[in-house]
Amino acid sequence: MNEELIKKVISIIKEKVDIDFDNYKINTILRRLRQRTTILGFVSLEDYYKYLIKNLDKEVKILSEYFLINTTEFFRDPMYFYYFNYLVKKMIRSNTMFIKILSIGCSSGEEPYSIAMILNERKSKCPELEYQIDAIDIDPEAIIEAKKAVYWEDAVKNVPYNYLKKYFHQTENKYKLIHSYFDKNISFYVRDIFKLKSLVQGLLQYNFIFARNIFFYFKENKNIELFDRIIKMLDKGGYLILGSSEQLLKEYAPLFKQVCPGIKIFEILE
Ligand SMILES: C[S@@+](CC[C@H](N)C(=O)[O-])C[C@H]1O[C@@H](n2cnc3c(N)ncnc32)[C@H](O)[C@@H]1O
Repeated sequence: MNEELIKKVISIIKEKVDIDFDNYKINTILRRLRQRTTILGFVSLEDYYKYLIKNLDKEVKILSEYFLINTTEFFRDPMYFYYFNYLVKKMIRSNTMFIKILSIGCSSGEEPYSIAMILNERKSKCPELEYQIDAIDIDPEAIIEAKKAVYWEDAVKNVPYNYLKKYFHQTENKYKLIHSYFDKNISFYVRDIFKLKSLVQGLLQYNFIFARNIFFYFKENKNIELFDRIIKMLDKGGYLILGSSEQLLKEYAPLFKQVCPGIKIFEILE
């Protein structure tokens, strides 16, 4: 019964906002649906469903936001960025002067901007360095927030103090990122990773692909599809970066070498 109702909800959302939650784990969707139902004070999912039909436009938007858990922060798991910086230095030493990065599920921009700060610092020491960061998220609201780039104190708690001083304007308890540092280097797009064909820059071939905290959403067959897509988009010797609680699927493990124990950065083998 629940499953039937969830299918109906999923098909309404798909029709209204073109997000296909059929690709997502049903238990996560059900859990979030139950939370929404409880918040609104309904006892049963059926009652919530009636409410949804009556308040379609508003509720579909809220519900899809609810399913797309946008949790993120600047320099999330800081050790990742330490190693990313190290790998960038290594690439510069081997004369790679154009570094291309894709951030999948970039949420409100904290991850791509953290990457950009590191690259900007490297560029100040090595002016020939060029970089391009493509950042995508399926959630249009998240991309609007990413472009605005105004953050609460909590989101910037891991930002090194000298970066905070240099890259942000502080107004009371909010931090506004100073765009001009990265304007030419970051492009944000509303895109579903499963429908990603082209981006404006037309790159789709990257040295680093950040796919952190995104695999947990999807059904297993979709995770396999996602790995296949990522492998096609990684340049020779490129790096795949997963979230700290994510794993390489075992069928893909032989294709990669982990760069450092405990940190989920994987170099693709040639
Ligand atoms: C939990 S956040 C992770 C943000 C960031 N990568 C990090 O690790 O801090 C996951 C993001 O993935 C986005 N997302 C979910 N499904 C997606 C899809 N099919 N294509 C692109 N982005 C998606 C969500 O909207 C959400 O903003």
